[in-house]
Amino acid sequence: MFTKRHLVEPGDFTIEEMDRLFDLAKRIEQDQGYLRESCRGKILATLFFEPSTRTRLSFESAMLRLGGTCLGFSEPSSSSVSKGESLADTIRVVSCYADVIVMRNPKEGAALLASRYATVPVINAGDGGHHHPTQTLTDLLTIRQLKGSIGGLTVGFCGDLKFGRTVHSLAKALSRYPAITMIFISPQELRVPCYITEGILKKAEIPYIETHSLEKVIADLDVLYMTRVQRERFFNEEDYIRLKDSYILNREKMDHAQDELIILHPLPRVNEIAPELDEDPRASYFKQAKYGMYVRMALLAAMLGTC
Ligand code: CP
Repeated sequence: MFTKRHLVEPGDFTIEEMDRLFDLAKRIEQDQGYLRESCRGKILATLFFEPSTRTRLSFESAMLRLGGTCLGFSEPSSSSVSKGESLADTIRVVSCYADVIVMRNPKEGAALLASRYATVPVINAGDGGHHHPTQTLTDLLTIRQLKGSIGGLTVGFCGDLKFGRTVHSLAKALSRYPAITMIFISPQELRVPCYITEGILKKAEIPYIETHSLEKVIADLDVLYMTRVQRERFFNEEDYIRLKDSYILNREKMDHAQDELIILHPLPRVNEIAPELDEDPRASYFKQAKYGMYVRMALLAAMLGTC
């Protein structure tokens, strides 16, 4: 079902396929010995042309826990890309050495291109401001585990909604679930792209609103998805400095939120969630990071056909 396929964007998998991965991830969480050693002899290549902590390390941890091994690079300067080798050639060659490739690249569309040249499955670990499908699997699994199901929720996205690929991927994925309402909270300059609101949500008749005020909407939310203002995607430093602290979630704001709200964040965070909230039972972002490892274990085992 999952073998001989690539994962470039969340829409590559059906809802039923994602449910199978979530069931598998849940089983792995409950029984830490389940699937251990199932990927013995398999090799994962992690090609990271941009920095990462969670995505790269959770994939590597996932493969090691499944009994496989990992190779790769975490910065392009240590690969022959720095000598001018094309992405296509890099992927062709790494396909000879590994059974599955996980790649992050700053260029939108890079994962799709890689999938065309690879002879093994390619998993997109983030392509510019475009997509981050395994973060979406992480986010959906976290919502399902903590809220009981993915439908019937009001989900707020707050912060940098223009460049935030995790927001784009999650909004697109949530539009496939029933009775979802989305609230986009951002400064004018960092609004969610029209291709999401006009191109996907409006066409699918998904209710959404856009606002700049977190205070006005926080009481309505079941899920609050906070995001970092991404310095690396700005063209000038002045704009970044002006916008970076647009939203800081703290105890005072959380006093107006529901007791059952869950706060998610793909991480890394900078200033947008005050550390004083880390002990709040609604703060779920570190649990979310752990679910990321379980769902990546499920994904690797499924794509390699070992479960
Ligand atoms: N959420 C996420 O993609 O984190 P990293 O950039 O650390 O991989």
